Amino acid sequence: MIITIDGPAGSGKSTIAEALSKKLNFIHFNSGTLYRAVCCYLLDINFDISSIKLETKIAKFNLEVRYENQTQIVLVNGKDYSAHFRDNLVSTLSPSVSVNKNIRDIIDDCQRKFGKTHNLVMDGRDIGSHVFPDAEFKFYLDCALEERAKRRFKEEKAKNSKITLKQIEKQLALRDEVDMNKTYAPLVVPKNAIIIDSTHLTIEEVVEKMLKIIKNK
Ligand code: DC
Repeated sequence: MIITIDGPAGSGKSTIAEALSKKLNFIHFNSGTLYRAVCCYLLDINFDISSIKLETKIAKFNLEVRYENQTQIVLVNGKDYSAHFRDNLVSTLSPSVSVNKNIRDIIDDCQRKFGKTHNLVMDGRDIGSHVFPDAEFKFYLDCALEERAKRRFKEEKAKNSKITLKQIEKQLALRDEVDMNKTYAPLVVPKNAIIIDSTHLTIEEVVEKMLKIIKNK
């Protein structure tokens, strides 16, 4: 069974997908990690990421996903870049990586292959709309920009970061703009998706809502 959760940056998709997958004993497949891993690989081979366009040719690379103790391991040409997935540079450059069709095709293939043999909760930006349009349950997690910014700001403060709430709000608005206006596989509400607005809900409340929907069907 495949359950998809799409939505804008900072809407809590990944945390909710993790909690939901634990409740259902499913695998949590974080699709953003694949884009981050490919970004690290391109940095490693000194590829000029800022020049990447939709049709830029990227030499084929091998992408592998496996799980160790329920932790997702992503390897690009056999190399584990997980220590850098959350680097600022990687967060900044991953959107440019994600506009490229060659890269998206390799990532889509990898996700679909994995979905054939596992029960999954997969979160991302194009999972219910593009990768698994026929998934059993498709959720779209929405949340007001101001609330997403407040949540990120709290996380950043805990890390002693100096970034301001206004700066985070600006960054998120920019990412929404890029994600929603991509030529290929943009962020949209998937057809027949169930929309949940998490602006005034806790993580537990969102997970409960999803579980109720899944169990009632
Ligand atoms: O969710 P995240 O911040 O880890 O995602 C990293 C990047 O990958 C982000 O720029 C959006 C992109 N992405 C995408 O285009 N499609 C997905 N299904 C998941 C992520």
